[in-house]
Amino acid sequence: MIEGNEVVVRGNPGLLRIMLRNLIENAVNHTPSGTVVQTNVANEQGAGCLSVSDNGPGIPEQEREKVMERFYRPLGTQASGSGLGLSIVKQIAEIHAAALRIVSPDVGNGLRVEVIFSAPNAKKP
Ligand SMILES: Nc1ncnc2c1ncn2[C@@H]1O[C@H](COP(=O)(O)OP(=O)(O)OP(=O)(O)O)[C@@H](O)[C@H]1O
Ligand SMILES: [Mg+2]
Repeated sequence: MIEGNEVVVRGNPGLLRIMLRNLIENAVNHTPSGTVVQTNVANEQGAGCLSVSDNGPGIPEQEREKVMERFYRPLGTQASGSGLGLSIVKQIAEIHAAALRIVSPDVGNGLRVEVIFSAPNAKKP
């Protein structure tokens, strides 16, 4: 639903909290200390877009689909973990009919994970 420049996203607060926590924990745990982590919510042409970005080492493009699978951790991953966080994020995105994208930040190194909520009530152009 769009109200002025706002996008109202309807969802399950507990699940959305788990999703955001996983993304922020990843950005903190899989990057060196001193890394800048940013979270952002925006109205992207009527769709709600939630993103978590960091300027850490990022994930090579060829690994980005695989890290969304359960238990997959790229070789050389140092921080402890089970490899489940992003698969949970993906499931929660799906429950909300949202798209999950792992991309490079607009500037510099690092990672940006975007969750784009569809805009069923958005006016078609
Ligand atoms: N922000 C990030 N920067 C660099 N690598 C990342 C980032 N987020 C995730 N990764 C890589 O993707 C892998 C999978 O992430 P995922 O959250 O699924 O599992 P995990 O963090 O290893 O374990 P868990 O979340 O279950 O504790 C991580 O092991 C890490 O190699
Ligand atoms: Mg994780």
